[in-house]
Amino acid sequence: MTLKIAPSILSSDFLHLEKEIRSVEKAGADMLHLDIMDGHFVPNLTFGPGLVKQIRKATALPFDAHLMITNPADFADKFIDAGVNYLSFHIETDSNYKSLFRKIRSRGVKAGIAINPETSLGALPGVIDEIDYVLIMSVHPGFGGQAFIKESVEKVRKVKEIIGSRAVEIEIDGGINYETAKSVIKAGVNILVAGSFIFKSNDYKKTITGLRNVRITHR
Ligand code: DX5
Ligand code: ZN
Repeated sequence: MTLKIAPSILSSDFLHLEKEIRSVEKAGADMLHLDIMDGHFVPNLTFGPGLVKQIRKATALPFDAHLMITNPADFADKFIDAGVNYLSFHIETDSNYKSLFRKIRSRGVKAGIAINPETSLGALPGVIDEIDYVLIMSVHPGFGGQAFIKESVEKVRKVKEIIGSRAVEIEIDGGINYETAKSVIKAGVNILVAGSFIFKSNDYKKTITGLRNVRITHR
């Protein structure tokens, strides 16, 4: 599967959000990662469908929304109406998660399961045919700029095994830089989320291109 780079706007300059989004688009990003936090499932707050609807006007990039909220079923339609193309949630937040995956897909949006570092892969085989991608958290969700949890590489390998020959994508989220990108790509990841590594760099194009070419440049 082709490698996709998804800058997370969590680490962008919110005062100049439109400019930041246009800059990463111009720099070669493949999609935009949107971290939705409710101050309950995770100890931080970000933004809701209203802001997503506004930034939808600023770019043609696909939107990859990562719901870190306690009640994803109450908000899925609102984010889809606002224009997201990928939508993931943590299944511990919804006991009826299968029907939520189905609902997301029925609206023509890619459905993803988000898995925390301490969450086992036990439920994955049972939902693998209901989803389009697996988002593996390689930090504890809530904040950008944290250190990559090394055990995530092994987790990617296990997820890859469970996926087998299915066309299910693997996304990694948290602590991505050239070194960690290299190890997770080797293990089977095809979507790299990177927040601080891109937005805290002084040349977005160089950083995004660097991530894309990491297999060649970082042997
Ligand atoms: C953390 C978020 C991440 C975050 C990644 O809860 O899910 O998407 O923005 O930021 P970095 O790349 O700085 O670890
Ligand atoms: Zn995220």
